[in-house]
Amino acid sequence: MLDPEKIPVITIDGPSGTGKGTISYLLRSWLNWHLIDSGAFYRVLALSILDDEIDLLDEKKIASLASGLALEFVDSGIETKILYRGDDCSNAIRSEACGVAASKIAVYESVRSELLSCQRNFAVLPGLIADGRDMGTVVFPAADLKIFLTATSEERASRRYKQLIKKGIDASLPALLRDIRERDERDINRAQSPLKASDDAVLIDTSNLGIEEVMLKVRQIVKIRGLA
Ligand code: DC
Repeated sequence: MLDPEKIPVITIDGPSGTGKGTISYLLRSWLNWHLIDSGAFYRVLALSILDDEIDLLDEKKIASLASGLALEFVDSGIETKILYRGDDCSNAIRSEACGVAASKIAVYESVRSELLSCQRNFAVLPGLIADGRDMGTVVFPAADLKIFLTATSEERASRRYKQLIKKGIDASLPALLRDIRERDERDINRAQSPLKASDDAVLIDTSNLGIEEVMLKVRQIVKIRGLA
């Protein structure tokens, strides 16, 4: 039985290309809860840094930009739109350059601690779906359900490749695979809030599963936990 005083939280963590964003979106649509894409905080910061040509090594300046960073996650009916200062930056933050820069600034302890309260503020009734790398381990350690999605790096690179080609964007599979492996390496080995499954997380390997199959498993777990 759920405690009515407690705000329910489901965390969806894992490396990029495992389907976290899509699963989080489908969960949000099903449960009608709030959603936070925590990677968007790092990506929006990265976009400002790249646009303003700020040195990626200037931790102090980047932490000051992170302070009070306010994003909105709006359901467009088919996906989550990310608004920063009222502007839709959903597409701009998805570039490979932004992803790589986001992963580089995510190693800074001061940046992560500035973003912590910005992210926790999203936990309001009726509940929150939190998508990221450290949602279950650091940001919401008391979450009601923690899911950790995995997939081989080859499969994740191939998914990204197909997405880009579908959008008419030129892409190289070997380059995407190299980027994914380098990013995993940084995300897993950083000292602060590294990418890892919480001990109490449910692991789902999505390498050989379609989105519907993953969602079926997730729905079953959500129901078993009494969250729907
Ligand atoms: O999920 P994503 O690809 O949008 O995340 C981009 C980068 O942001 C990722 O490589 C590492 C960082 N990140 C993080 O450190 N912690 C999170 N909770 C989410 C993302």
